[in-house]
Amino acid sequence: MTSLDDGFTAHFGRRPTIRVQAPGRVNLIGEHTDYNEGLVLPVAISRYVRIAAAPNGTDHIRLRSFAYSGVADLRADAPAEASVPAWARYPQGVAVTLSRRGVRLAGVDALIDSDLPIGSGLSSSAALEVAASLVFEQAAGSHLSPRDRAMLCHEAEVEFVGVPCGIMDQFAVSLCRRGRALFLDCRSLETHHLPLPAGLAIAVCDTGVRRTVGDSAYAARRRECEDALAWLAVRGRHASALRDVTLDDMRLIEEMPDPLPRRVRHVVTENARVIETARAVEGGEVTRLRDIFLASHDSLRDDYEVSTPELDAMVEAALASPGAVAARMTGAGFGGAVVTLVHRDRQSEFLEAVAGGYRRRTDREGAFFASEATEGSP
Ligand code: GLA
Repeated sequence: MTSLDDGFTAHFGRRPTIRVQAPGRVNLIGEHTDYNEGLVLPVAISRYVRIAAAPNGTDHIRLRSFAYSGVADLRADAPAEASVPAWARYPQGVAVTLSRRGVRLAGVDALIDSDLPIGSGLSSSAALEVAASLVFEQAAGSHLSPRDRAMLCHEAEVEFVGVPCGIMDQFAVSLCRRGRALFLDCRSLETHHLPLPAGLAIAVCDTGVRRTVGDSAYAARRRECEDALAWLAVRGRHASALRDVTLDDMRLIEEMPDPLPRRVRHVVTENARVIETARAVEGGEVTRLRDIFLASHDSLRDDYEVSTPELDAMVEAALASPGAVAARMTGAGFGGAVVTLVHRDRQSEFLEAVAGGYRRRTDREGAFFASEATEGSP
């Protein structure tokens, strides 16, 4: 963290005393299921948002970022009042939510850095929120459990920033464990840490296409899920979330206006694929993952309509590269990254081949890195 420490000193004229980090995540499977109270299976990756900070003895919270210009200056006793640069809305939301929960915020200076690509579907916002919460908590002398911190950060993003996301990202960033995937039931919030086979590594294949229309299209998908529930209720089939719909309901569902049947079919089949994936991983049957991941990708492309030609080309390039076990788009879609499981001993070969394969198919340069399944924030 030396360069971050030096950056802090250059900006604030003293050494930092608080240093925190929060990882990004890739979701192995279970996409667009979290806000339908379904199942997800993310892992934390070894790319981080890092913050160096120090109490400043005033009643001001001052935030700066390496990547973005501007300073956010919040009053510790009224953090909602300040108008801040767009990137600072996330930490501001966390400060506001902490103070609403009764934490007395203290004055602190903080510098934020990140090697996590932003807008690639790797949860840079959740990592920023969780890291910011750790700083504010330490400065205030309070400590939340990782689970409470995840809930608080999720509330900050939904209520304050206004992004209607599900809970997967904040939970993944906070609760993942090294070498394991997090099996999370987004209704009961029960978690189970699933050991990944030692011979498998994770490769993140970023298309380089940023999610531009992503936020409004994401909100539109959420609305369609609610419309489907309302449609079912009018016909006497009451379900509190698409989690409760089964393939037995499909005959009724097929009568809905398009695209609702396709949206429901994605959610129902995707939940089943999370269970199938967990079983395959537990049983060491990794060869089954290729078909399960492909079915998920196809469903996201055709039924949920959140893939892009670049994501499709990346999956193709990944599966044609040596060492690939399984690949699919990860995160919300509309741009972003593909997650690939690769044989660990062929990881470098894979990374070289997939970059060329993607370039040939799209004339674009992607960004590629291998990652371990790493530890969530403490
Ligand atoms: C984004 C949201 C998550 C989840 C995924 C799609 O990452 O933040 O809550 O809905 O999209 O699975």
